[in-house]
Amino acid sequence: MDTPHALSKPTLWLHWLVAALVLPLLAVGIYMALAEAWGLYDLHKSLGLVALPLLLARAAWRLGQGWPKPVGRYTAIEQRLAKASHWTLLLGVLAMPLTGMLYSGASGNGFGVFGLELMRSRPHPTEPHAVVPYSEALSTLGETAHEWIGYALVVVLALHVAGAVKHHLVDGDGTLRRMLGRRV
Ligand code: HEM
Ligand code: HEM
Repeated sequence: MDTPHALSKPTLWLHWLVAALVLPLLAVGIYMALAEAWGLYDLHKSLGLVALPLLLARAAWRLGQGWPKPVGRYTAIEQRLAKASHWTLLLGVLAMPLTGMLYSGASGNGFGVFGLELMRSRPHPTEPHAVVPYSEALSTLGETAHEWIGYALVVVLALHVAGAVKHHLVDGDGTLRRMLGRRV
């Protein structure tokens, strides 16, 4: 159980495992899309799919446990901002593998986990390397959502990390230390 003085093992493990997967996924996703680095697409999709069960476990754990109580005393507006950003991170990140699968699946490119095919690609009958979409509309929906939610997450995460550093350096409270597994 999470307490105001210490966070439970599942909270700590899930937070840092998800962070270790999601931060590189955002960086690789943006890089490969901008640089058209096709060689990275399979790695990105595989890691994104590996993240999915962890993200589901994390959301289930958080919804079941409720949110940890803040370490210090904060104004109502600060608490509301923290809660809103935590909800956005919890659910926004969960939307990423789902919209990614929608996009890659509907576009005909397919996806899988490290060589294990989960959704088959649909090669073009005559043009080499081209694919035939299953649904243009769903593919565009998935692509747009994946891109917008992805960029929104980058902004919220920058604020989230800045907030953690502010707690530590400016407020001098134990918020970051507690997330690093210490008793506060
Ligand atoms: C937590 C999981 C994931 C995160 C955080 C993530 C993040 C991102 C980001 C930030 C981009 C760049 C957005 C853009 O400019 O289009 C991107 C691109 C992409 N992602 Fe993901 N992604 C995840 C999972 C997945 C999964 C599971 C798939 C497919 C099964 C996928 C497929 C793609 C594809 C195909 C692109 C390239 C889009 C393009 O070329 O415009 N992603 N991802
Ligand atoms: C270097 C990166 C990160 C740092 C330093 C960091 C730091 C923290 C800290 C100190 C807390 C505790 C806040 C509190 O007690 O009120 C926290 C909670 C949280 N963080 Fe992060 N975080 C990072 C990355 C991430 C990432 C990548 C995600 C999501 C993808 C995330 C999602 C959350 C959520 C949802 C909470 C609420 C508590 C929970 O559900 O475990 N964080 N983070």
